[in-house]
Amino acid sequence: MKVLVTGGSGFIGSHTVDSLISLGLEVVVVDKKAPLYPNPKARYYQMDINDFSFESVFKENAIDKIIHLAAQPSVSFSNQNPEEDAQNNILASIRVIELAKKYQIQKLVVSSSAALYANPQYFPVDERHPTCCLSPYAISKHTMEEYVKWSGLKYIIFRYANVYGPRQDSTGEAGVIAIFTDAISHNKPIYIHGDGNQTRDFVYVQDVADANCKAVLSEVSGETINISSQTEITINQVARTIISAAAGYTGSVVHSASRLGDIYKSILSNQKAKQLLGFENKTNFARGIQETVKFFERKK
Ligand SMILES: NC(=O)c1ccc[n+]([C@@H]2O[C@H](COP(=O)([O-])OP(=O)(O)OC[C@H]3O[C@@H](n4cnc5c(N)ncnc54)[C@H](O)[C@@H]3O)[C@@H](O)[C@H]2O)c1
Repeated sequence: MKVLVTGGSGFIGSHTVDSLISLGLEVVVVDKKAPLYPNPKARYYQMDINDFSFESVFKENAIDKIIHLAAQPSVSFSNQNPEEDAQNNILASIRVIELAKKYQIQKLVVSSSAALYANPQYFPVDERHPTCCLSPYAISKHTMEEYVKWSGLKYIIFRYANVYGPRQDSTGEAGVIAIFTDAISHNKPIYIHGDGNQTRDFVYVQDVADANCKAVLSEVSGETINISSQTEITINQVARTIISAAAGYTGSVVHSASRLGDIYKSILSNQKAKQLLGFENKTNFARGIQETVKFFERKK
């Protein structure tokens, strides 16, 4: 089986590529960035999926299935740049869908987000929970979901919780764990917005990569599925766990004003993923943090 991974040079994409290859699948990657962690067995195309030339990838490779991860992934960037967000997350996704139809792709797996569950009404949030879009990012992911359902293709829509682990970018609008781990590995202070008692559902990147593999290999289709650890962790706990995993930290933890619009509590049900795909949350938080700390220590 030959799988096209869009965004395969990125954080989740690079782990997904490695996992697919370890299962013996052939992998083609399209990403506008060169891979920082290339897999020698994958075939890489450095191109923008908005470009006309993207179709050549389908002509040169008999693609069976697609995992579509390429996107503008930042909520705050989307607030400042809604047009660029829509170009990358809506229009580019429509191109992927249209090419998937033209080249009779057997299945499309796409990455949506827990950002669609702003203002949760109950916990853990399952897939039947109403969606509520408070940012252009959430609007663009929601719109992408609707185009995927409309396409007539076999599909799985994943809504990821907060993904963390080795290889995550710690700059700009990165995930909180990458930012804290990078700061702690350089003995710098870490900054927590608000009282730090706000919670998130953190899921380890290898478990997400495994879910992507299960999605391309399984017969399940036409489903929207959360990928999460179904575990609630406070931001204070995140800081404490990283500090105790990283030896010798003498920096300080600084609390600043809370951010407008930040969700206070987040926990997603992963029951549907377990039932339909045999998803496993294999890596508990303490172990995931140890792996992440080791990665940032090596990177220093
Ligand atoms: N990381 C998370 O916690 C999280 C949570 C929910 C959803 N997601 C979604 O998962 C997917 C992967 O996220 P990530 O964290 O690995 O982000 P990432 O930024 O590390 O990876 C995205 C990759 O897509 C590429 N890309 C973006 N636009 C492109 C384009 N037009 N053409 C070609 N390549 C393009 C980037 O160069 C990058 O390598 C995204 O769709 C993101 O919205 C991520």
